[in-house]
Amino acid sequence: MVRAAIIGASGYGGAELARLVLRHPKLSLAGLYVQPSSSAAGQAFSALYPRHAGEIDELIQVLDFAAPVLDADVAFLALPHEASLELAPKLLALGLIVVDLSGAYRLAAEDYPSHYGFEHTQADALARAVYGLPEFYAPALAEARLIAAPGCYVTAATLALRPLVAAGLLAEGAVPIVHAVSGVSGAGKTPSAKTHVCEVSLEPYNVFGHRHQPEMRRYIGAPVLFTPVLGHYQRGILASCYAPAKAGVTAEQVHAVFAEAYADAPLVRYSDKRLPSVGAVEYTAYCDVHARLDAATGQLAVFSALDNLLKGASAQAVQALNVRLGFAQELGLTGGLQ
Ligand SMILES: NC(=O)c1ccc[n+]([C@@H]2O[C@H](COP(=O)([O-])OP(=O)(O)OC[C@H]3O[C@@H](n4cnc5c(N)ncnc54)[C@H](OP(=O)(O)O)[C@@H]3O)[C@@H](O)[C@H]2O)c1
Repeated sequence: MVRAAIIGASGYGGAELARLVLRHPKLSLAGLYVQPSSSAAGQAFSALYPRHAGEIDELIQVLDFAAPVLDADVAFLALPHEASLELAPKLLALGLIVVDLSGAYRLAAEDYPSHYGFEHTQADALARAVYGLPEFYAPALAEARLIAAPGCYVTAATLALRPLVAAGLLAEGAVPIVHAVSGVSGAGKTPSAKTHVCEVSLEPYNVFGHRHQPEMRRYIGAPVLFTPVLGHYQRGILASCYAPAKAGVTAEQVHAVFAEAYADAPLVRYSDKRLPSVGAVEYTAYCDVHARLDAATGQLAVFSALDNLLKGASAQAVQALNVRLGFAQELGLTGGLQ
C-alpha cells in the first residue's frame, strides 16, 4: 500500500480526499493534518464529517508547517495557495510525492502577482511541477514529484475546448467564450457574505478577472473570455463554451475529434447525443462533454459538467497520482463515490 497523508483535512477538498483514500485499493491513510491554529486539531475526522462515523475516526493531527515531519509516501495538500506554496518544497525535500490542489504551482511565476496577489518564491519547485490533467499530461505525470492539480473551472473548460483548439477547428483568432456555473462548495468550507446560502442566487462574479482565466489560456492553448457564475446549489459545474468554427468544418469532424481525444480517457464521457448535467456527475469522478455545431451560424457549442470537489479537485488529484504510481487512471474512482 502507498501511504498518503492529507494536509488540510478539515476542509472540503481534504475531506473528499480522506474518503477517496479510504476506498482506494492501493492507498492507505497515513494521517490527517491541519495547521496548529486550526479548530479541527485533535478532533476526530468523523466529528467534523459525521457521515464517516465508524469509517474514518482518526484524529486530525497538527503539522508543523515550518518544519514538517511526515511518515508517508505521498502528501496531498488541500490548502490555501500561499500555504501550499511554502509547504510543498519542504515535503519534496523529505522525499515525498506531493499532490497540490491549490493554484500555487499551475502557472508561470510572472502570473502570480497579478492573479494571486503574491510573488512566487519557489522557482525550483515550480519548474518541477507537472500539471495534473491526466487526459493530456499522462507521460509527464508518470515521472512527476510535484503534481499541480488543475482548477475546477479550468478542468471543465479545458476538457471542452482543448481538443478543438489542438485540431485547428476554430476560426482564426477565435476567442472562445466560457460561461460556467458552479455550486457554492467551490469556495471552500468557510462561508462569506458572498457565498452564504441565503445570499447566493445566480450571479456572475470576477468577470474576465478570475484567476482561472490565465490557467485556461495556458492549458487550452488559446485566450478565452471566462464568466464564472455562482449558483444556489452545493456542488457541480456546468460549463457552456462557444466559439466560431473554421469555415468548412462539419459536425462529423467535431465528433470525430472528441471521440479520438477521449478514446483512452476513462473519466471523460463524451457523447454526441447526451447533454451534460450537474445531476449526472455529482458525486462521481467523471466529466461529461457534448459538442455540437450550429450549421446556420457556424458556431460551436461545447458543454461540460463535473463535480467541482471530485473531477474538479480531489478525484482528479487521485487520478493524477494513479498515473504517477503506474495504476489505472480510474482506480478507486468509479462506481458511486457518495
Ligand atoms: N472547493 C473546490 O471546489 C476546489 C476545487 C479545486 C481546487 N480547490 C483548491 O483546493 C484548496 C483547498 O480548497 P477547499 O475547498 O478544500 O478549501 P477549504 O474547505 O476552505 O479548506 C481549506 C483547508 O486549509 C486549511 N487552512 C486554512 N488556512 C490555512 C493556513 N493559513 N495555513 C494552513 N492551513 C490552512 C483549513 O484548515 P482550518 O481552517 O481548519 O485551519 C482547511 O483544512 C484551495 O487551494 C482551493 O483553491 C478547491
